[in-house]
Amino acid sequence: MDALTLLTTTRSVRRKLDLERPVPRAVLEDCLRIAQQAPAAGTMLTAQRWIVVLDPLLRKEIAAIVRESAHAVWQRYAPQTDNRIFASGRYLVDHLDRVPALLIPCLPGRPPTRLVEQTSYFGSIYPSIWSFQLALRTHGLASSLCSYHLADREEDVARLLGIPADVTQIGLLAVGYSTQQEFSPAARPPVPEILSYDAWGWIR
Ligand SMILES: Cc1cc2nc3c(=O)[nH]c(=O)nc-3n(C[C@H](O)[C@H](O)[C@H](O)COP(=O)(O)O)c2cc1C
Repeated sequence: MDALTLLTTTRSVRRKLDLERPVPRAVLEDCLRIAQQAPAAGTMLTAQRWIVVLDPLLRKEIAAIVRESAHAVWQRYAPQTDNRIFASGRYLVDHLDRVPALLIPCLPGRPPTRLVEQTSYFGSIYPSIWSFQLALRTHGLASSLCSYHLADREEDVARLLGIPADVTQIGLLAVGYSTQQEFSPAARPPVPEILSYDAWGWIR
């Protein structure tokens, strides 16, 4: 697959994850190797830690925690969320215990409060997360972020997996083989709507 197709058609996959087919560790490790090539702030280049959860019992326990948090999150954000995304998010949460691999990218420390530090902090892992998602696709896998437990249950997942209190979970990725290989570009704002040259170009 050429790079432009990969970049424009890699979607958050929730309903089309193969819940029966195990994900080999070697594939995940290869994708993580690629993800480590992503840019990060100089001080954070070696800071990432990724926990891969394959154990069925742990996945079940994590899924139960995520499910509880998701209901509270949906009550708050559902009115602002596209119905299709909401329904597909619900499907994923309902089936999360059966998703073959759950990945939790982590960073040391707690999220900073100053903007300049926040941007370095989260910005030092999201490029890797996205590279990881792109790399999965090249192996026929797909993924979606499903981070609801960060609303109020991060500590419960931390306890379950032995994650120290001074380590931050950045999200939770649901990963599996994709039952569909062809995806289309999503509807997004056209460039002229989001672009302005030389000055802020929108009326607020
Ligand atoms: C920071 C971040 C957090 C996200 N969290 C969730 C989530 O908790 N649950 C979920 O279903 N999707 C989550 N997503 C995926 C978005 O919902 C998804 O990108 C959006 O629906 C657009 O679909 P697409 O990725 O297929 O273009 C997240 C994406 C990002 C970048």
